Amino acid sequence: MKNILDFARKKSEREIITMVTCYDTWSARIISDTQVDAVLVGDSASMVMHGFDSTVHAEIDMMAYHVAAVKRGLSSRFLVADLPFLAHRKGKRILMNSIDKLMKAGAQAVKIEGADGMLDTIEYVVKSGVPVMGHLGLTPQSHHQLGGFKLQGTESESANRIQVFSKHLENAGVFSIVLEMVPSALAKRITESMSIPTIGIGAGPFTDGQVLVLQDLLGLSKDFEPKFLRKYLDGYSQIKDALERFNQDVKNRNFPSDKESY
Ligand code: KIV
Repeated sequence: MKNILDFARKKSEREIITMVTCYDTWSARIISDTQVDAVLVGDSASMVMHGFDSTVHAEIDMMAYHVAAVKRGLSSRFLVADLPFLAHRKGKRILMNSIDKLMKAGAQAVKIEGADGMLDTIEYVVKSGVPVMGHLGLTPQSHHQLGGFKLQGTESESANRIQVFSKHLENAGVFSIVLEMVPSALAKRITESMSIPTIGIGAGPFTDGQVLVLQDLLGLSKDFEPKFLRKYLDGYSQIKDALERFNQDVKNRNFPSDKESY
């Protein structure tokens, strides 16, 4: 996928959308050689790449640095970047400077978490010519407010709230919405009620697309095993095994061999 028109086309043609997170050049090169549709430089970079315990620690310079690294390895794939914690709540100047940095680093759209109190701002960003992806359900930047990283929209009041905000976001001009950790039935209802695509994570099979954190789907996060995750590789064990074999080969004087020497 090259631009936001492809998102609209996929929705109208009922073609499913795939998106993965990416934070660096070498992964971006591998993704470029696949059919995966879109790439998200998520603020999960703060956890996955920098070891923080939440996305609250992502900063705009950190995000722009990862966007630029991804962009250098990515060919013709739609690139979305997360606006980090509070960047959209510190006034227009900080918001627009933050967006400026992400777009100049190579992003083609920004993802903004939440909608409450943000609709005018989101509309302003869209009208400034910047495509916005929404993000509802579990919004990890608000995990302190939500009482943890848990399933959202389990009661009818909170489910209705998420559905109403989806519609408000659509009206504000977002081109797509990530639905994170909501019951499948709610995601289905929202998806069917909207003309823009929904992209789910822990939101069941009825959304218009699916997104996963790259390191999670590669099985690199050893102890992270939420119900929604399918690991396509036991990356942790395979990388560990490769490192152990290198260590052994060197210590047993099996590496480098004659063929590997000048
Ligand atoms: O930051 C991130 O990785 C995300 C995805 C989980 C959608 O926002």
